[in-house]
Formats: sequence, C-alpha cells, structure tokens
Amino acid sequence: MKTLFVVLLSVVLLISFSGCCQMPPVQQNFDLNRYLGKWYEIEKLPAYFEKGNCIQANYSLRDDGTIKVLNEEMLDGEMQSIEGTAIVKDSEQPAKLGVSFFFWQPYIPYWVLSTDYDSFALVYTCVDMTFFHAEYAWIFSRSRTLPNSTVESLKEQFTSNGIDISKMSATVQTGCTNEI
Ligand SMILES: *[C@@H]1O[C@H](CO)[C@@H](O)[C@H](O)[C@H]1NC(C)=O
Ligand SMILES: *[C@@H]1O[C@H](CO)[C@@H](O)[C@H](O)[C@H]1NC(C)=O
Repeated sequence: MKTLFVVLLSVVLLISFSGCCQMPPVQQNFDLNRYLGKWYEIEKLPAYFEKGNCIQANYSLRDDGTIKVLNEEMLDGEMQSIEGTAIVKDSEQPAKLGVSFFFWQPYIPYWVLSTDYDSFALVYTCVDMTFFHAEYAWIFSRSRTLPNSTVESLKEQFTSNGIDISKMSATVQTGCTNEI
C-alpha cells in the first residue's frame, strides 16, 4: 500500500513537470575519458528512483566500449547499488549519452550540459511520454560538497537554458559510509 502511494505520488510529481522538453546546448568537444570515474550528487530535481543519501556514481569503460554505470546510495543506513549501461548514441554528439538500468528499458537521454571534468558536471534528462514529460537535472561534483557560490552559478546555467530548477534540492552527503 505504501509502495503504491509512493508510486502514485511520483506520477503526480512527474506530471507536475509537464511542459515541453528543453533542448539545451551540451558540452562542446565532450571528452568521455575525462568524464569517467566517480561523481557525487550535490543537487537534483526530484527523482522517484533516488530516495537515499550519499548518492554517487562511478562511470567506467567496459571492454565492449559501453560505459558501466554504478549508482550507489545509502538507504536505511546501508549502501545499495544498481548497475546500468550508458552508450554514446551518435559519435558526432558525444555529450548526449543514453543510459539504461534494465534490459527491457530503452536508453533514456543523459545529456552532459557542462563539465570541467575535475570539479562539476551538469546533467539533464527529459523523456517525452504520451501524456507528460519527465524531466530530471543533476549537479554532480568530484567531491561530496561544493561551495554554495559554485552551486548557485551552476544553477544559473540550468535557468539560462530554460530549465525550471525551482524544485531542485540538495542531496545529503554527510554521514556517508566510505566507499563500498
Ligand atoms: C570505478 O569503477 C572502476 C571499474 O569498476 C574501478 O576500477 C574504480 O576503482 C572505481 N572507482 C572508484 C572511485 O570507486
Ligand atoms: C550553504 O547553503 C546551505 C543550504 O542552502 C546552508 O544550510 C549553508 O549554511 C550554506 N553555507 C554557507 C557557507 O553559506
């Protein structure tokens, strides 16, 4: 029952994002190799699939050229992980990745709007559904914290691309158990 409630609530949240998907410009000359490795989530738009604290991701290349995505979060005091796959769909547009976590799931967009590779990354997703658009945005960092002033100027980048980040919230990155 509780689960059903959470699912319904998520649907309501998603519908509240209805509106057209934005088509923001992405990182020029995106260098995937420099992007690989560990990223910590600093802020995000509400995402029903992320409920925990200490959210982090590690991207690494597999032998077959696909990207292994290891997402981790702390839920009920324990680190939990899920593995997915990312691909570059079109080598002409390397900053527009697709990511999938289940074999039945089509690749959903994962656009790197901006990154300096060493400290921050802005990632945007928008999926057209029949009746609404599901829109997500993340601020990632190479460390668990970023100065507020940096976060504010990164948020400006979303806003200047027409992305509504009024529902963006900070991810708790304290009390995290160390790497698993
Ligand atoms: C990220 O994943 C790769 C491949 O599994 C691993 O070698 C590397 O140690 C991981 N990095 C971190 C910081 O966990
Ligand atoms: C940064 O922002 C957070 C939340 O918005 C606030 O709690 C914290 O006090 C701020 N830190 C500084 C140094 O201004």
